[in-house]
Amino acid sequence: MPNEERATKNEQLQGRRVLLGVSGSIAAYKAAELIRLLKKAGAEVQVLMTPDAARFITPLTLGTLSEREVLTEIFPENADGSWTKHVNLGLWADLFVVAPATATTLSKLAAGLCDSMLTATALSARCPVMVAPAMDHDMWLHPATQRNLRTLRSDGVEVIDPAHGELASGLIGTGRLPEPEVLLERIAAKLNEADERSSGVLAGKTVLVTAGPTREAVDPVRYFTNGSTGTMGYALAEAAAQRGADVTLVSGPTNLDAPPGVERINVTSAADMHAAVMAHAEADLVLMAAAVADYTPAEMSDRKVKKSDDDLSIPLRRTTDILAAVGQQKRDGQVLIGFALETHDGAANARGKLERKNLDLIVLNHANEDGAGFGTGTNRVTILGCDGSVTEVSQRPKRDVAEAILDRVLAPSAEPVAS
Ligand code: CTP
Repeated sequence: MPNEERATKNEQLQGRRVLLGVSGSIAAYKAAELIRLLKKAGAEVQVLMTPDAARFITPLTLGTLSEREVLTEIFPENADGSWTKHVNLGLWADLFVVAPATATTLSKLAAGLCDSMLTATALSARCPVMVAPAMDHDMWLHPATQRNLRTLRSDGVEVIDPAHGELASGLIGTGRLPEPEVLLERIAAKLNEADERSSGVLAGKTVLVTAGPTREAVDPVRYFTNGSTGTMGYALAEAAAQRGADVTLVSGPTNLDAPPGVERINVTSAADMHAAVMAHAEADLVLMAAAVADYTPAEMSDRKVKKSDDDLSIPLRRTTDILAAVGQQKRDGQVLIGFALETHDGAANARGKLERKNLDLIVLNHANEDGAGFGTGTNRVTILGCDGSVTEVSQRPKRDVAEAILDRVLAPSAEPVAS
């Protein structure tokens, strides 16, 4: 690593408070070197070991290197009456990293169990939490482990993927704890990200994003939906969170993972989405990117509809226009952004929606173009403002379009922010 980069990384760690959770894996020996590197970079390190970790490396070794007493039990034999230590540690830390994280510890963290100082502190921690799993190849691939990791990721925990190579069992596969230098780099990057977030322009602001399609059930096995994949809404939620906002994402069915640090509420139908949005409609900034069904079957059959005649009619009724409902109760200072997907007369249709729904801005998507609209990685949009402004955002990855939309929201000038 170039000297300059190393210097920045060390600066990032200077004076930072790191909780290092060590669980019972053969890779626990790497924790000793990680502590040494963290200390050398100027960090304060408090080690929390699971009882099994002490079978692999002694608390004396890790305590000596960290210059702090290693904590294991929530209720130690020689308790000094300070049973709320896990809460205090959770508040004290700038970052909590569990390295190595065994399959057992991952499952406890995913379930919210707190049977040791490590797991109890993880539940109390307000700081970013990272886990660096280490285990044998097949344990890593097991659906239970992967399910736990998905749960942890959606809870906002960052997973440092294990490396491929020779494992303690003698097998070759994925499951090795990355080298301490790699862990140090990831820790510094995470602290940097957290710093940027807390000093971001949206720090202290609440943002509500809707994303994805809705599903309107016809019978227990069929539904009406549309081609939205949720990519644009998820990109907006991620971009807003990175700028420091407290983001709630109300999502229809998608295959996407919740972006880090974003609270996701999963919904299915337009009616579910309406209820979830109204419960969070006081947000400072509302971005409604979901492709909500305008009609739903008037009645859902509780039995599978059987075929009979050549023609079948299903009576539909209008769903609530969620965006219009939020627009009706818009409060002073609240910013409301809608989306429009149009095949024809885009600007005129979008402007009509902007006015009818009491919006500040509307983002017009061009449905007929290649590389824009549903199911593509890229998009081209036109942002229309209630002040008559028009901002063109040329075709680019949806994550970059999200940044351009936020730039426009935060710098409400008629000048194009990106073209
Ligand atoms: N929208 C909503 N609730 C609905 C329908 C739409 O909140 N029941 C929101 C969408 O999330 C989007 C905006 O309204 O931000 C415009 O959606 P769009 O489907 O383009 O327009 P509609 O108002 O439904 O009009 P039309 O389908 O006639 O074009």
